[in-house]
Amino acid sequence: MNDIELLEIAKNAMEYAYAPYSNFKVGAALLCSDGTVFTGCNVENAGYGASNCAERTAIFKAVSEGKRNFSAIAIVSSSGDETFPCGICRQVMGEFSPELRIILQRSDGTPSVYSFKDIMPKFFSL
Ligand code: THU
Repeated sequence: MNDIELLEIAKNAMEYAYAPYSNFKVGAALLCSDGTVFTGCNVENAGYGASNCAERTAIFKAVSEGKRNFSAIAIVSSSGDETFPCGICRQVMGEFSPELRIILQRSDGTPSVYSFKDIMPKFFSL
């Protein structure tokens, strides 16, 4: 699974985004260390705080099916430009995979890759 393939899967997942309040659709594709891929989209709610981001949807789907080791996550949005994960999603990523590769997409369609440590040099852990 290469970065471009993972971005394509994230783009397909974005089609399922439920974002009637923000109209900002996000899709994620999480690559587990064993090669399995879990997808996610943002799921909004009339009580805004009950909304869930695409990244956490994918991570929680994976963890709920027994996966805890992740190597990469691709994230795309309807903005058409690089969309960085929010702070809560970064904290959740750090819980499981501080070595995660974060694959985004620039407006020209090319992938941009960050290490989790680049975007979250310090995070809370017990
Ligand atoms: N959102 C995500 O799904 N992932 C991000 O990384 C940033 C924000 C969602 C939350 C909300 O449904 C919408 O985008 C606007 O904030």
